[in-house]
Amino acid sequence: MTNEKNMKKIAAEHAAKYVQDGMRIGLGTGSTAYYAILKIGEMVRGGLNIQAVATSEASERLAVEQGISLTPVQHMDRLDLTIDGADELDDRLRLIKGGGGALLREKITAYQSDRLVIVADEVKQVTQLGAFPLPVEIVPFAYEWTVQSLARLGCSVQIRRNLSEGFYVTDNGNYIADCKFQLITHPEELSMRLGSIPGVVEHGLFIGMADQAIIGCQDGTVRILH
Ligand code: A5P
Repeated sequence: MTNEKNMKKIAAEHAAKYVQDGMRIGLGTGSTAYYAILKIGEMVRGGLNIQAVATSEASERLAVEQGISLTPVQHMDRLDLTIDGADELDDRLRLIKGGGGALLREKITAYQSDRLVIVADEVKQVTQLGAFPLPVEIVPFAYEWTVQSLARLGCSVQIRRNLSEGFYVTDNGNYIADCKFQLITHPEELSMRLGSIPGVVEHGLFIGMADQAIIGCQDGTVRILH
């Protein structure tokens, strides 16, 4: 039996094998994407030549530490491949993301990628989404009203706080509303309804975006979902 960290590592290292010379790569955020960035860094130090963008300031710092040089987005067209984590995924590759607060940059990057590969440990795979509170990035202006609008969708809402008790602020200067639904029965419909609330910048439902998921399992193997 392998532990959670190792499940993340084997999934991420498997995904890193898809990275080839000359590719334009999106680097994900979180404790699973972390291992992919470490592996890609090792490959770069061994001579791999890639262009890369990161989905958060934390991943930017990690990439630079690892020797991966980042290319400004205005100098890149589409990305060939993005490797990123998820908080929950179902067997249709619908995802909840944003547990690490980076969902906006992650979604922009995923949308611009020819291929999005998700890396996760097997605990993240669920039959129905929703046990993990859905992160929604909202603008600070009149956030109380936006929270009321979110709650009317049938969830309980908490504005994410940081350790010093203030509100957590994203890399884009916004707040995160964590929306606990328990069960999301119609993710597509919810996605549309969230997108129509003024004050919502982006939400953590990623539908029709992932091409593949690599799941690290307790027995030390990986399971691949398409
Ligand atoms: C970051 O905002 C998230 O979308 C992460 O990709 C997601 O939370 C998965 O993170 P872990 O790999 O740390 O579980």
